[in-house]
Amino acid sequence: MKTYLILFFLCCRAAAVKHSLKYYITGTSGITKIPGFVVVAMIDGIQYGYCDDNMKEIEPKQDWIKKLFQKKPEHLKDHSKRCLNNQQLFKTYMGVFKQRLNQTEDSHVLQSVSGCEWDDESHDVKGINQYGYDGEDFISLDLQTLTWITPKTQAVVIKHLWDTDKARLEFIKNLYMSVCPEYLKYYVGYGKSFLQRTEHPSVSLLQKTPSSLVSCHATGFYPDRADVFWRKDGEEIHEGVEKGQILPNHDGTFQMSSELNVSLIKHEHWKKYDCVFQLSELKEEILTPLNKTEIQTNWVSPSVFPPVVGGAVGGVLVLVLGGALYCYWRKRNDFQPVRGDRDKDNSLSG
Ligand SMILES: *[C@@H]1O[C@H](CO)[C@@H](O)[C@H](O)[C@H]1NC(C)=O
Ligand SMILES: *[C@@H]1O[C@H](CO)[C@@H](O)[C@H](O)[C@H]1NC(C)=O
Ligand SMILES: *[C@@H]1O[C@H](CO)[C@@H](O)[C@H](O)[C@H]1NC(C)=O
Repeated sequence: MKTYLILFFLCCRAAAVKHSLKYYITGTSGITKIPGFVVVAMIDGIQYGYCDDNMKEIEPKQDWIKKLFQKKPEHLKDHSKRCLNNQQLFKTYMGVFKQRLNQTEDSHVLQSVSGCEWDDESHDVKGINQYGYDGEDFISLDLQTLTWITPKTQAVVIKHLWDTDKARLEFIKNLYMSVCPEYLKYYVGYGKSFLQRTEHPSVSLLQKTPSSLVSCHATGFYPDRADVFWRKDGEEIHEGVEKGQILPNHDGTFQMSSELNVSLIKHEHWKKYDCVFQLSELKEEILTPLNKTEIQTNWVSPSVFPPVVGGAVGGVLVLVLGGALYCYWRKRNDFQPVRGDRDKDNSLSG
């Protein structure tokens, strides 16, 4: 693949970065096949810790956080304590919700996102504490006004109950507006070589069939502040372009693609088009010209298949050809990009 790395040396300072430290917690009742309680701890969109109801301690998921826990056991202790406390809390809440909503059936799912965001330039801090119940937004705390907000009429009674618990509100405010940002700043500094690294992706042009959109697929980049778009004669275009979302890969990097409808582009105009990958931290881009010979595809033209020939010789010929085609197909298939997991889609919104 022909790509060009372009650097702009004029740039002097990286853009402001919003960092985040979040706990994604899921509690279930009446479902035996999965753990009843799971915590995934994330920093800047990358998992760094895990615990469930079979564990006494949080399990570090990155080498740098493992080292930090060894050096500062109080951090390990603190995270583990939060895991155990939340487990108790979730049990209590699930009981309260079920009772308040007059529910009789046993199977329920309670999810929460809690934590903080910190802008390293403006130093603005935002606290987050949201709950979802049975797959829907249920109740969230506005940390500016210290009042609970709910889109559900059935949850209004819980909102009023929780609004009166001032001691708890102050505790939550301190946790997410002071303690959490301190941890976040410390971790961002400590894990600097990992969290503040940049990794360039490999960029490929992919197409399912000759009439499909051409996908410009960038995978393996870090961090998740990036963009993939199409340019014609050096200008970004939006018409006929379908931009995908940034998705996590299993190895802690990210992927994104942007598709271009080439059906209306005359062949002699193809050279006017480029796919552009940009990492927002760096003022540099990877350019991939739209070029038919560079597009990878699994598609095999139907005319490649041999006509059926009668007799034993014909049968053998078909078998041999069939085997060759199969190997060819397998080989062409090797480029198939790793699909990112879509865990992010399960997070609570708003
Ligand atoms: C639950 O049932 C009680 C008594 O029947 C009723 O007063 C209350 O409004 C119900 N609550 C909800 C959320 O349906
Ligand atoms: C591409 O554009 C053509 C013409 O506007 C349209 O008919 C076709 O459906 C588009 N293809 C896809 C895959 O969206
Ligand atoms: C397209 O790619 C082929 C193979 O890499 C190359 O020979 C050709 O010059 C490219 N065409 C353009 C217009 O860049």
